[in-house]
Amino acid sequence: MHIVAVCGSSREESNTNKLIRAAAEASGIGCEFIELGAIDIKPCSGCSMCMMNEGVCPIDDDMHGVCEKLLAADGFIIGGPTYFMDISGAVKSFIDRTMAVKYREIGPPHSDMPWHGTDPFYGKPAVLVTTVAGRGHERAIETLKVAFDDCHRMRIVEKLAEIVGMNDVDEMPETLARARAAGKKLAAALKA
Ligand SMILES: Cc1cc2nc3c(=O)[nH]c(=O)nc-3n(C[C@H](O)[C@H](O)[C@H](O)COP(=O)(O)O)c2cc1C
Repeated sequence: MHIVAVCGSSREESNTNKLIRAAAEASGIGCEFIELGAIDIKPCSGCSMCMMNEGVCPIDDDMHGVCEKLLAADGFIIGGPTYFMDISGAVKSFIDRTMAVKYREIGPPHSDMPWHGTDPFYGKPAVLVTTVAGRGHERAIETLKVAFDDCHRMRIVEKLAEIVGMNDVDEMPETLARARAAGKKLAAALKA
Protein backbone atom coordinates (compact mmCIF):
# COMPACT_ATOMS: atom_id res chain seq x y z
CA MET A 1 0.00 0.00 0.00
CA HIS A 2 1.39 3.42 -0.86
CA ILE A 3 0.45 7.07 -1.30
CA VAL A 4 1.44 9.46 -4.04
CA ALA A 5 1.80 13.08 -2.94
CA VAL A 6 1.73 15.83 -5.53
CA CYS A 7 3.56 18.92 -4.26
CA GLY A 8 2.34 21.74 -6.47
CA SER A 9 4.47 24.69 -5.39
CA SER A 10 7.84 25.42 -7.00
CA ARG A 11 9.01 27.49 -4.03
CA GLU A 12 11.92 25.96 -2.13
CA GLU A 13 10.43 26.72 1.31
CA SER A 14 6.86 26.13 0.15
CA ASN A 15 4.31 26.10 2.94
CA THR A 16 1.97 23.95 0.88
CA ASN A 17 4.62 21.34 0.23
CA LYS A 18 5.59 21.34 3.92
CA LEU A 19 1.98 20.62 4.92
CA ILE A 20 1.78 17.84 2.34
CA ARG A 21 4.96 16.29 3.76
CA ALA A 22 3.63 16.63 7.33
CA ALA A 23 0.43 14.82 6.33
CA ALA A 24 2.36 12.11 4.50
CA GLU A 25 4.72 11.53 7.41
CA ALA A 26 1.84 11.38 9.91
CA SER A 27 0.02 8.82 7.78
CA GLY A 28 2.79 6.31 8.45
CA ILE A 29 2.27 4.94 4.95
CA GLY A 30 4.99 4.83 2.31
CA CYS A 31 4.78 7.89 0.10
CA GLU A 32 6.21 8.87 -3.24
CA PHE A 33 6.51 12.63 -3.75
CA ILE A 34 5.98 14.24 -7.12
CA GLU A 35 7.40 17.78 -7.11
CA LEU A 36 5.72 19.68 -9.93
CA GLY A 37 8.45 22.34 -9.74
CA ALA A 38 11.14 19.78 -10.54
CA ILE A 39 9.55 18.17 -13.59
CA ASP A 40 8.29 19.19 -17.00
CA ILE A 41 4.50 19.10 -17.45
CA LYS A 42 3.34 21.08 -20.44
CA PRO A 43 -0.25 22.38 -20.73
CA CYS A 44 -2.83 20.13 -22.38
CA SER A 45 -3.08 21.05 -26.07
CA GLY A 46 -6.69 19.89 -26.33
CA CYS A 47 -5.90 17.65 -29.31
CA SER A 48 -8.11 14.83 -27.91
CA MET A 49 -5.60 12.23 -29.12
CA CYS A 50 -5.72 10.56 -25.69
CA MET A 51 -9.42 9.83 -26.27
CA MET A 52 -8.67 8.01 -29.51
CA ASN A 53 -5.34 6.49 -28.54
CA GLU A 54 -6.15 4.42 -25.43
CA GLY A 55 -5.11 7.17 -23.06
CA VAL A 56 -1.73 7.90 -24.60
CA CYS A 57 -0.97 11.62 -24.78
CA PRO A 58 1.26 12.72 -27.68
CA ILE A 59 3.02 15.43 -25.64
CA ASP A 60 6.58 14.34 -24.90
CA ASP A 61 7.23 15.31 -21.27
CA ASP A 62 7.26 13.94 -17.72
CA MET A 63 3.47 13.48 -17.42
CA HIS A 64 3.69 9.96 -18.84
CA GLY A 65 5.69 8.76 -15.82
CA VAL A 66 3.47 10.75 -13.48
CA CYS A 67 0.36 9.04 -14.86
CA GLU A 68 1.89 5.60 -14.23
CA LYS A 69 2.69 6.59 -10.64
CA LEU A 70 -0.83 7.94 -10.07
CA LEU A 71 -2.41 4.78 -11.47
CA ALA A 72 -0.33 2.59 -9.14
CA ALA A 73 -1.19 4.59 -6.00
CA ASP A 74 -3.68 3.54 -3.32
CA GLY A 75 -4.23 7.05 -1.99
CA PHE A 76 -3.26 10.64 -2.65
CA ILE A 77 -2.24 13.94 -1.10
CA ILE A 78 -2.55 16.66 -3.71
CA GLY A 79 -1.85 20.32 -3.14
CA GLY A 80 -0.77 23.62 -4.53
CA PRO A 81 -0.60 27.29 -3.60
CA THR A 82 -3.43 29.76 -4.11
CA TYR A 83 -2.61 32.16 -6.93
CA PHE A 84 -5.01 34.93 -7.95
CA MET A 85 -7.72 33.44 -5.74
CA ASP A 86 -7.49 29.98 -7.37
CA ILE A 87 -4.98 27.19 -8.02
CA SER A 88 -1.71 27.96 -9.81
CA GLY A 89 -1.13 27.40 -13.51
CA ALA A 90 1.30 24.54 -12.82
CA VAL A 91 -1.31 22.66 -10.80
CA LYS A 92 -3.98 23.33 -13.42
CA SER A 93 -1.72 21.94 -16.16
CA PHE A 94 -1.15 18.83 -14.05
CA ILE A 95 -4.91 18.41 -13.56
CA ASP A 96 -5.71 18.91 -17.24
CA ARG A 97 -3.11 16.36 -18.26
CA THR A 98 -4.66 13.68 -15.99
CA MET A 99 -7.44 13.56 -18.60
CA ALA A 100 -5.45 10.92 -20.51
CA VAL A 101 -5.86 8.24 -17.81
CA LYS A 102 -9.62 8.30 -18.35
CA TYR A 103 -9.20 6.58 -21.71
CA ARG A 104 -7.38 3.43 -20.60
CA GLU A 105 -10.56 1.57 -19.67
CA ILE A 106 -9.52 1.31 -16.02
CA GLY A 107 -12.25 1.71 -13.40
CA PRO A 108 -15.99 2.32 -13.73
CA PRO A 109 -17.45 4.45 -16.54
CA HIS A 110 -17.63 8.12 -15.56
CA SER A 111 -21.16 8.49 -16.93
CA ASP A 112 -23.48 6.99 -19.53
CA MET A 113 -21.65 9.06 -22.15
CA PRO A 114 -18.71 6.98 -23.40
CA TRP A 115 -16.61 10.04 -24.33
CA HIS A 116 -16.31 10.76 -20.60
CA GLY A 117 -14.13 7.65 -20.29
CA THR A 118 -13.66 5.82 -16.99
CA ASP A 119 -12.56 6.77 -13.48
CA PRO A 120 -9.34 4.87 -12.62
CA PHE A 121 -9.05 6.63 -9.24
CA TYR A 122 -12.68 5.90 -8.30
CA GLY A 123 -13.13 5.65 -4.51
CA LYS A 124 -9.44 6.05 -3.71
CA PRO A 125 -8.95 8.27 -0.65
CA ALA A 126 -7.31 11.66 -1.01
CA VAL A 127 -6.35 14.74 0.97
CA LEU A 128 -6.38 18.11 -0.78
CA VAL A 129 -4.20 21.02 0.35
CA THR A 130 -3.79 24.70 -0.43
CA THR A 131 -2.21 27.63 1.39
CA VAL A 132 -2.80 31.33 0.90
CA ALA A 133 -1.42 34.59 2.25
CA GLY A 134 -4.86 35.99 3.00
CA ARG A 135 -7.74 35.43 0.65
CA GLY A 136 -8.84 33.13 -2.19
CA HIS A 137 -8.19 29.74 -0.62
CA GLU A 138 -11.90 28.76 -0.63
CA ARG A 139 -12.00 28.95 -4.39
CA ALA A 140 -8.66 27.17 -4.80
CA ILE A 141 -9.72 24.24 -2.61
CA GLU A 142 -13.05 24.09 -4.46
CA THR A 143 -11.18 23.84 -7.78
CA LEU A 144 -9.14 20.94 -6.38
CA LYS A 145 -12.36 19.35 -5.07
CA VAL A 146 -14.09 19.65 -8.45
CA ALA A 147 -11.12 18.07 -10.24
CA PHE A 148 -10.44 15.16 -7.92
CA ASP A 149 -13.89 14.49 -6.45
CA ASP A 150 -16.45 15.49 -9.09
CA CYS A 151 -14.30 14.64 -12.13
CA HIS A 152 -11.99 11.82 -10.95
CA ARG A 153 -14.34 10.60 -8.19
CA MET A 154 -11.65 10.12 -5.57
CA ARG A 155 -12.93 9.92 -1.98
CA ILE A 156 -11.83 13.20 -0.39
CA VAL A 157 -11.18 12.53 3.29
CA GLU A 158 -9.93 16.03 4.16
CA LYS A 159 -9.55 19.45 2.57
CA LEU A 160 -6.92 21.74 4.09
CA ALA A 161 -7.13 25.38 3.05
CA GLU A 162 -4.79 27.27 5.33
CA ILE A 163 -4.23 31.02 5.70
CA VAL A 164 -0.53 31.48 6.42
CA GLY A 165 0.07 35.21 5.85
CA MET A 166 3.80 35.78 5.31
CA ASN A 167 4.71 33.12 7.88
CA ASP A 168 6.42 29.76 7.70
CA VAL A 169 4.21 26.81 8.64
CA ASP A 170 7.15 25.38 10.58
CA GLU A 171 6.27 28.10 13.11
CA MET A 172 2.52 27.34 13.02
CA PRO A 173 1.93 24.32 15.26
CA GLU A 174 -1.87 24.34 14.91
CA THR A 175 -1.65 24.36 11.12
CA LEU A 176 0.89 21.54 11.17
CA ALA A 177 -1.37 19.63 13.57
CA ARG A 178 -4.27 19.88 11.10
CA ALA A 179 -2.01 18.54 8.34
CA ARG A 180 -0.90 15.63 10.51
CA ALA A 181 -4.51 14.87 11.46
CA ALA A 182 -5.40 14.82 7.75
CA GLY A 183 -2.58 12.34 7.12
CA LYS A 184 -3.89 10.08 9.89
CA LYS A 185 -7.39 10.29 8.43
CA LEU A 186 -6.00 9.23 5.07
CA ALA A 187 -4.25 6.26 6.67
CA ALA A 188 -7.46 5.24 8.45
CA ALA A 189 -9.39 5.41 5.17
CA LEU A 190 -6.76 3.27 3.45
CA LYS A 191 -6.77 0.64 6.18
CA ALA A 192 -10.58 0.50 6.49
C1 LIG B 1 1.37 34.62 -8.48
C2 LIG B 1 0.88 34.65 -7.06
C3 LIG B 1 -0.44 34.91 -6.81
C4 LIG B 1 -0.92 34.95 -5.50
N1 LIG B 1 -2.24 35.16 -5.29
C5 LIG B 1 -2.69 35.26 -4.02
C6 LIG B 1 -4.07 35.52 -3.77
O1 LIG B 1 -4.91 35.61 -4.65
N2 LIG B 1 -4.46 35.69 -2.47
C7 LIG B 1 -3.57 35.61 -1.44
O2 LIG B 1 -3.96 35.81 -0.29
N3 LIG B 1 -2.28 35.26 -1.65
C8 LIG B 1 -1.83 35.09 -2.91
N4 LIG B 1 -0.51 34.74 -3.14
C9 LIG B 1 0.33 34.31 -1.99
C10 LIG B 1 0.31 32.77 -1.87
O3 LIG B 1 -1.02 32.25 -1.93
C11 LIG B 1 0.90 32.29 -0.55
O4 LIG B 1 2.15 32.87 -0.34
C12 LIG B 1 0.98 30.77 -0.54
O5 LIG B 1 1.09 30.33 0.79
C13 LIG B 1 2.15 30.26 -1.34
O6 LIG B 1 2.26 28.87 -1.20
P1 LIG B 1 3.68 28.14 -1.15
O7 LIG B 1 4.42 28.61 0.06
O8 LIG B 1 3.32 26.70 -1.07
O9 LIG B 1 4.40 28.46 -2.43
C14 LIG B 1 -0.02 34.72 -4.43
C15 LIG B 1 1.33 34.46 -4.69
C16 LIG B 1 1.78 34.43 -6.00
C17 LIG B 1 3.24 34.13 -6.26
